[in-house]
Amino acid sequence: MPTTMAAMLLTGHGGIEKLEYHQDVATPQPKAGEVLVQVTATAKNNTDRKAREGLYPTKDKGDVTSFAMGGTPTLTFPRIQGADVAGRIVAVGEGVDAKRIGQRGLLDFNIYADERRDINLTPDYYGHGADGGFAEYIAVPAEQFYHVPNPELHDAELASMGMCSYQTAYHMMTAAKVGPGERVLVSGASGGVGTALIQLCRIVGAIPYAVSQLDKAEALKALGAETVIDRGDLPTFVERVLESTGGKPIDAVMDLVGGEMTNLFIDTMIVDMQGRKSYPRLSIAGASGGNLSEMMDPHLSLSSTDIWRFPRHP
Ligand SMILES: NC(=O)c1ccc[n+]([C@@H]2O[C@H](COP(=O)([O-])OP(=O)(O)OC[C@H]3O[C@@H](n4cnc5c(N)ncnc54)[C@H](OP(=O)(O)O)[C@@H]3O)[C@@H](O)[C@H]2O)c1
Repeated sequence: MPTTMAAMLLTGHGGIEKLEYHQDVATPQPKAGEVLVQVTATAKNNTDRKAREGLYPTKDKGDVTSFAMGGTPTLTFPRIQGADVAGRIVAVGEGVDAKRIGQRGLLDFNIYADERRDINLTPDYYGHGADGGFAEYIAVPAEQFYHVPNPELHDAELASMGMCSYQTAYHMMTAAKVGPGERVLVSGASGGVGTALIQLCRIVGAIPYAVSQLDKAEALKALGAETVIDRGDLPTFVERVLESTGGKPIDAVMDLVGGEMTNLFIDTMIVDMQGRKSYPRLSIAGASGGNLSEMMDPHLSLSSTDIWRFPRHP
């Protein structure tokens, strides 16, 4: 194994100039229970940009800082970013079956707080609290590198279907118990999580209504969106959504945009309440429209809207 490798190092919070390409970074060594993966494809997520720019502010640490769950920020510099990693195992640490060498797979990007896998109360991830995939090699726990043999998927496809977007979309939908035949409003529909939501909705038989921009409409429909509602012109937004559903309420909203749109999203669910078969449900995993999601309390309490927030990672 080469002792040094090429990697993109994040050297501090700021613009793209904070990313530096180096060819002399020490190749990580797999510790006990780990595998060394040669990275063949990686994906860039919104969270990589946000972490680079320091957009996970906390009240006590000002406007630009790293995410910290009540403690010390885990993002220290230099850091190799990249949450979604596809690659091949090239070496194993003590206690890992050497037969795994050569396996192609995908990384579960979570850095778990403890042995539990059902809950992770200190959300962090590879590429943030530990080095990620913008490098030739990465050492990760063997149990978190999943064998994916499927020859119909090439490595870049596998990395782009990585956990950051698809796992978030999956959790948003399962928490809100999205089921067959339900009308689901998806905001930020053209992004990583939004496109995952559209496809997963179709897989479970739900009907995704995409909130996006009209120049992306054809691509989103090709992906599975029932229709595309332009996110501009807020005063007519609810009316336009209901026009597209034939006047029927949206059953569940998957919100990635937030800001002042969240109140409008709730409005698309609280029409014809007697005609509903379930409570309105709102899943929030991000706020690309700003760091706030505005919600008017009476909307929530009077409509019994269930809200789910996803801190799977910041
Ligand atoms: N909690 C978690 O575990 C988790 C995991 C992954 C991501 N996230 C968060 O979820 C959000 C989406 O992530 P992503 O990876 O899908 O991001 P992305 O690929 O960058 O997509 C974001 C989308 O949001 C829309 N958008 C951007 N700026 C907007 C604005 N000012 N107003 C309204 N819409 C805007 C755009 O879609 P349109 O042009 O189609 O409207 C854009 O394509 C981010 O806030 C991210 O931090 C959270």
